Amino acid sequence: MTKFNIAVLISGNGSNLQSLIDEFKSSQLVNLSCVISNKQEAYGLERASIANINSHFIDHKEYNSREAFDEAMIMQLDHYKPDLIVLAGFMRILSDTFVDKYMGRLINIHPSLLPKYKGLDTHKRVIDAQEEYHGATVHYVDNTLDGGPICAQSSIKVTTNNPKELQKDIHKLEHELYPSVIRDISEQKIYLSEGKVIKNK
Ligand code: GRF
Repeated sequence: MTKFNIAVLISGNGSNLQSLIDEFKSSQLVNLSCVISNKQEAYGLERASIANINSHFIDHKEYNSREAFDEAMIMQLDHYKPDLIVLAGFMRILSDTFVDKYMGRLINIHPSLLPKYKGLDTHKRVIDAQEEYHGATVHYVDNTLDGGPICAQSSIKVTTNNPKELQKDIHKLEHELYPSVIRDISEQKIYLSEGKVIKNK
């Protein structure tokens, strides 16, 4: 049987990537076919190499436009024929060309309960606003920043005033949430239809 093929885009530590590696390394259904990073020093590249997953460093600074960089990623990605492209701490805004090409097959994890706290620095902003709850969201990517249709969320009570500690707690949530949503997408229990998330659970 052909496995459901996922490609992961990263820019940094890759702890979410690690949670996917751990979840799917012996899976009969899901294959983690490649990792792409726009940062050479991203520790996620090391994680990919330890797990024997093909990885590629594509330096955005070598391209004179966002579109040109995205075209380079598309060329690399299409080689793997991914069923799903997973953004896991990928710190670049994607061009409309990229997003339109993979719409419905492109997801992101964001460290907040969207639509609250789009953008960066979410943990500090949540603490500053004295929110009772914080969490993580997995969503399909569209042409808006952190604004695409939501697949699933997970939340906790905020019990610290320290953004670093809160970040750790949210990472733990993410490491459960992302693999489980990806499993559901691979089994067609979650999919996008006419711009809406359908859940067949
Ligand atoms: C995560 O918090 C994720 O929600 C955000 O970027 C962070 C990546 O962390 N998009 P890591 O590189 O997976 O450890």
